[in-house]
Amino acid sequence: MYKKLFGNRAILKNKWEIELLRKANAIVMEVLLALKEEVKPEKSTFEFEELALRICEKKKVKPAFKGYRGYPYALCVSVNEVIVHGMPKKEIVLKEGDIVSFDFGVIYEGYVGDAALTVGVGEISETAKNLLKVTEEALYKGIEKAHFGNRIGDISSAIQRHVEAHGFNVIREFVGHGVGRQLHEPPEVPNFGKPGKGPKIEIGMVLAIEPMVSAGDYRVEILEDGWTAVTKDRSLAAHFEHSVAITPEGPKILSKV
Ligand code: MF3
Ligand code: CO
Repeated sequence: MYKKLFGNRAILKNKWEIELLRKANAIVMEVLLALKEEVKPEKSTFEFEELALRICEKKKVKPAFKGYRGYPYALCVSVNEVIVHGMPKKEIVLKEGDIVSFDFGVIYEGYVGDAALTVGVGEISETAKNLLKVTEEALYKGIEKAHFGNRIGDISSAIQRHVEAHGFNVIREFVGHGVGRQLHEPPEVPNFGKPGKGPKIEIGMVLAIEPMVSAGDYRVEILEDGWTAVTKDRSLAAHFEHSVAITPEGPKILSKV
């Protein structure tokens, strides 16, 4: 999400709320994996929107993004240089060698699930493969730091370090976030920063950790439609996101089937 849209007091969740968030996120992951299965050349990005909506109907859940701040679709589909918030379109057709990110959310019993992943279309370049690998690894490096007593900056710096060690760059314009009854809650979870800085990580926080990584420059441009965020230099970008609960036993990934 965009930086600076919310305040600074995290809304802590009890066990029961975390269970509902787990159910919401399990559905999100189920949809994301179904979308991933369908990735092949010749598919338009709109076909994935339709599939996501069909699964929501079947599961009787509401998509979380549709109507959120005026976003017109249930799904974000971001191809190649599109970092996030790509809008599904019949005219955008996948081809061999592309990379495509799906970002999806649902509302289940009033609680929001939010996750994202990036996949290749058929055979992709070595750089693209590496970009996907490093971005997903960075997500897990961040999650490893999501312990009670640490600070948000510990997550941020772990992500940034891993990404930059592999010659890529983290996007600064968008950040991870708390998630609960609202899609975007405090605190912000940037993908860059310093260890030991930022808000304390507390038990009961649920954080959407979401590294967005450019194979080139990290600067962002927003296209005419007001949503599509691309890398200014049009280099490839990847995005992986999990919603993670902070428990006394450590971080628990909720976005799993
Ligand atoms: N996972 C994205 C985010 O946290 C989804 C938001 S898309 C929007 O920003 F359209 F709902 F804004
Ligand atoms: Co998010």
